[in-house]
Amino acid sequence: MNAILEMRSITKTFPGVKALADVNLTVERGEIHALVGENGAGKSTLMKVLSGVYPHHQYDGDIFYNGELQKFAKISDSEAKGIIIIHQELALVPLLSIAENIFLGNETATKGVIDWHEAHSRATELLRKVGLNENSATLIDNIGVGKQQLVEIAKALSKEVELLILDEPTSSLNENDSEALLELLLEFRRQGITSILISHKLNEVAKVADTITVLRDGMTVSTFPCDHGPEIENKIIKDMVGRELTNRFPPRDVEIGDTVFEVKNWNVYHHIYSDRHLIRDVNLNLRAGEIVGIAGLMGAGRTELAMSIFGRSYGQKISGEVQLKGQQVDVSTIRKAVDRGLAYVTEDRKEYGLVLENTIKNNLTLANLDGVAKGSVLDDNEERQVSREYIDKLNIRCSSMLQEVVNLSGGNQQKVVLGKWLYSNPEVLILDEPTRGIDVNAKYEIYTIINELAAQGRGIVFISSEMPELLGMCDRIYVMNEGRMAGELPAAEASQEKIMRMILKNDG
Ligand SMILES: Nc1ncnc2c1ncn2[C@@H]1O[C@H](COP(=O)(O)OP(=O)(O)OP(=O)(O)O)[C@@H](O)[C@H]1O
Ligand SMILES: [Mg+2]
Repeated sequence: MNAILEMRSITKTFPGVKALADVNLTVERGEIHALVGENGAGKSTLMKVLSGVYPHHQYDGDIFYNGELQKFAKISDSEAKGIIIIHQELALVPLLSIAENIFLGNETATKGVIDWHEAHSRATELLRKVGLNENSATLIDNIGVGKQQLVEIAKALSKEVELLILDEPTSSLNENDSEALLELLLEFRRQGITSILISHKLNEVAKVADTITVLRDGMTVSTFPCDHGPEIENKIIKDMVGRELTNRFPPRDVEIGDTVFEVKNWNVYHHIYSDRHLIRDVNLNLRAGEIVGIAGLMGAGRTELAMSIFGRSYGQKISGEVQLKGQQVDVSTIRKAVDRGLAYVTEDRKEYGLVLENTIKNNLTLANLDGVAKGSVLDDNEERQVSREYIDKLNIRCSSMLQEVVNLSGGNQQKVVLGKWLYSNPEVLILDEPTRGIDVNAKYEIYTIINELAAQGRGIVFISSEMPELLGMCDRIYVMNEGRMAGELPAAEASQEKIMRMILKNDG
């Protein structure tokens, strides 16, 4: 046996939750081992046990690495052995440079003085290795998530990595960036680096993994070699969910009504650089019962468009008109937007969607406190009832509605964001990457809820980087490119190729 890692009978409990129960994981040297499972299955927890985030006295079971029993007391203990983890939520410091982030906590110091000249030249070398064409002095804040992910990997490489753990590295990346990252993993494999990849994007798993382990409810369900064949995704889903999932999208049969929402001649400038014209003359309309998608590459301006409309939460020098049911409305603050019936489910749940230290219950009712108040007093019973309803509806995995959101698994946090806006009972719901980090089964549940809302006559704007999702869910798709609408397609005529062609045509 040439296993680099053997985790035996790992059990980990949190107050009220058994996150892992007798989990076994064997990873062979030099392979890419995928770890998959539904939201809350225990994937991130298992990797936190491995990397010493949870020290050895906080779990039961044994970890053998390179044949030796390990008892990591802290992260730096596992790092010293070459085990490097890149967490689900990136941990870079926005206002520091790329180089500073790479060497943070690991500075090349001589006599306590950091040699920044040396640091920058080493950073440049590492950036070259991960294929990131940026100056090492650039601030993290000024590069997109795709590039930030590469900086995290460069940081991992700065530490002599032997086993690289990536927890959903591509969840916020577009197809091109994801592709590049997977290529990098394959290149690492050629260099003898072992990787553990956690992902909900099963097509990516099917493509690069050598071996797959499926977790369900904190237990190991199966480990099998990945044959890259056409049936592999279905096999993974079957083990993940415990049954076959024949369709990825629920059927849809909706009557489309009159126009409910219109945006006219919308223009927005960059929030800091007032001469950067980000959104240019955008027009968009939406009818009752309709689901309208917005496709585009990263940086096309989709999020900026959505946020600038929703209470001007992005940008400056905004001009244009918003109409609801034929009437021009003032949605210039978030309060006004919510009162007029707009809701915005954000792709960035940490920054805009949730109050992390607060309970699930409080987060769910946050956007519609009137709904759970008697006069000006919050009615706790009502609040509990509403929370129970949404926890059931969205199948949010938690020990109780009083659990702090920060302790939920990534996918379950996203469900809370969605629940919060669903409860605000919006006329128009703008969804920005709503299924990011969500497992296949929960995606289906979320799609079903979106369809129900549309069937009630709401209008839905659906922003997504996953084109199959747009094609599977929308009635009509707008294609955005560099801040403009590059075109529009009825879903029946749309295809991935046509959308890409629209984007590219506008580039040339
Ligand atoms: N610090 C914590 N306190 C309490 N419960 C926790 C804590 N961390 C995780 N859990 C619980 O442990 C279980 C496993 O969570 P984990 O984050 O490992 O899931 P996951 O498989 O990574 O899911 P996802 O795909 O959504 O990221 C969940 O029920 C979660 O709520
Ligand atoms: Mg996770």
